[in-house]
Amino acid sequence: MNILAVESSCDETAVAIVRDGRDVLTDCIASQVDLHRIYGGVVPEIASRKHIEAIYGLADQALKETGLNRQDIDAVAVTYAPGLIGAVLVGVNFAKAAAMALNKPLIPVHHIRGHIAANYLAYPELEPPFLCLVVSGGHTMIIDVRDYTDMEILGTTLDDAAGECFDKVGRVLGMPYPGGAALDKAAQRGDEAKYSLPLPKPDANPYDMSFSGLKTATLNLIHHAEQVGEELDTDSLCAAFCATVSNTLVPRVVQALKETGRRKIAVAGGVAANSRIRRDILKAAEELDAQVFMPPLSLCGDNAAMIGAQAYYEYLAGNTAGMELNAYATKSILGERV
Ligand code: KG4
Ligand code: ZN
Repeated sequence: MNILAVESSCDETAVAIVRDGRDVLTDCIASQVDLHRIYGGVVPEIASRKHIEAIYGLADQALKETGLNRQDIDAVAVTYAPGLIGAVLVGVNFAKAAAMALNKPLIPVHHIRGHIAANYLAYPELEPPFLCLVVSGGHTMIIDVRDYTDMEILGTTLDDAAGECFDKVGRVLGMPYPGGAALDKAAQRGDEAKYSLPLPKPDANPYDMSFSGLKTATLNLIHHAEQVGEELDTDSLCAAFCATVSNTLVPRVVQALKETGRRKIAVAGGVAANSRIRRDILKAAEELDAQVFMPPLSLCGDNAAMIGAQAYYEYLAGNTAGMELNAYATKSILGERV
């Protein structure tokens, strides 16, 4: 089954064609990141306009690259939530028009389910059940993936997403947007012991997390150094920051593996590209004799191939939509019908 998949929830316009949920025939991306960098973050209005400009061309490019005809497309999938509402709407409207014109099923896909499904592309042998640590610009969650479309949220951030904090701290340190990758690189040259940052622990649910206190403490430390004229060791501060984020995430993953008895841990989302988090997960999993699944960096960020992968399983579960499909800025990853 060839699925034409569309992703436009943030600042990447992407169209892919994926066969049977696992085989990426093409994965076309037009990134707007350079454009938003001037403003230090994504400007929603600009994002929507650029999606409109790029989306038709990308779909044409996807067909050309695979040599497929429109008739060879069996279904159209799209990220319908969550994201910047204007941006998501562009993809949803395009996908609705395409599904209607081709007279094929329309499959709505939750963006975070897509991030999890990036693992199916990287690891053809991976099947649920498994645990997934989702760490992106907008979400931080530990999810029990019981089946392809049956999930349970074990824990979530109670305030900021990890990626949001990376980007905010990166911005204040003068790093180009989005700051996560630059911060990661700087951290590798630093000494994490030089700075001590708070490790917040919400106490209601052991799997829940909090990052806003860490963000504020890091920003305060930077501003204080500026005010008193103290030279900041940026690399070491980045190292301490990455270590603290990882020390928030990884022990919870370890506890979840122990308590659920799952033997597989997958990671997903842009922050899953972080080298410190990757290293700590690998180490922890080795100690627990658990299998680790880490998609390559190209599949960790936003792309349409991951949407096409999840779409196949949504289709098998009967989760298709009609022309009434709407876009949503926020929506739970849990499987309520659209
Ligand atoms: O999943 P994603 O591409 O978009 C969302 O759905 O949010 O994630 C983007 C986030 C940004 O916050 C970016 O700074 C972060 O992923 N990121 C990283 C790294 N590479 C990207 N954060 C930490 N370390 C990295 N190496
Ligand atoms: Zn994403």
